[in-house]
Amino acid sequence: MHTEKLILLDEVESTNNYAMGLVHEGLAQHGMAVFSNHQTGGKGRRNKQWDSERGKNITLSIITDMQTIALYRQFDLSIIAALSSYEFLKKYTDEEIKLKWPNDIFFNDSKAGGILIENVVKGNVWEYAVTGIGININQTLFYGELLQAISLKQITGKDYDVVELVKELIEIFLCKYDELKQNGIGKMFTEYKKVLFKLNEKVKLKKGNAVFETIIKGVTPYGQLITFDNAERRFDFDEVEWVI
Ligand code: BTN
Repeated sequence: MHTEKLILLDEVESTNNYAMGLVHEGLAQHGMAVFSNHQTGGKGRRNKQWDSERGKNITLSIITDMQTIALYRQFDLSIIAALSSYEFLKKYTDEEIKLKWPNDIFFNDSKAGGILIENVVKGNVWEYAVTGIGININQTLFYGELLQAISLKQITGKDYDVVELVKELIEIFLCKYDELKQNGIGKMFTEYKKVLFKLNEKVKLKKGNAVFETIIKGVTPYGQLITFDNAERRFDFDEVEWVI
């Protein structure tokens, strides 16, 4: 079991910031995790905010010691986080869950969860990572920008004990980290690619102000999205946005 280092908070600005604070104060240990019932300043990718109803959802950050993993392998942790979230949700539903590159968790065309990884790098050394995972569990009303969101409860019709689920998710995630250290990412990367959102389908992406249509063909081992229209193209993490 990995969950003896779980810190449970009632309210915090952001579990990622709290975890990062522990790292900077020298108090972090590998496997520590922070969950809060409520975040007053939850963060999403691309400087967006992450809103989540108090007590209803998973808002979790897990600290991992990354010193033995090369900096150029940063996408490995994204794969682990996405695949852990996928496997975790698949324990509760037979419905199709997909991973939308780089690491959103989708059910049909709705977002069930997202991941924000923040790193502490010194020189060439990837010292620590804080993997923030938000997964919608019991929330059933979403507003504004979140109209496209969905929760596990909306998929299955059931209510869940969020803290119990948090412990399960940490366990899955830390087992995958151990697997990465022992066997490398190979098998997990194959699993990730199998459940890629819109694989071999035509989608719209946006680069700068230009929206274009292309077919999703896969992801490189370093995390670039591979697409094909009149030629094969590869895109970095923040180079393109999805238009759904
Ligand atoms: C995204 O899809 O944009 C990423 C969302 C990440 C949200 C989680 S909730 C727990 C952790 N703390 C934060 O402030 N953000 C992440």
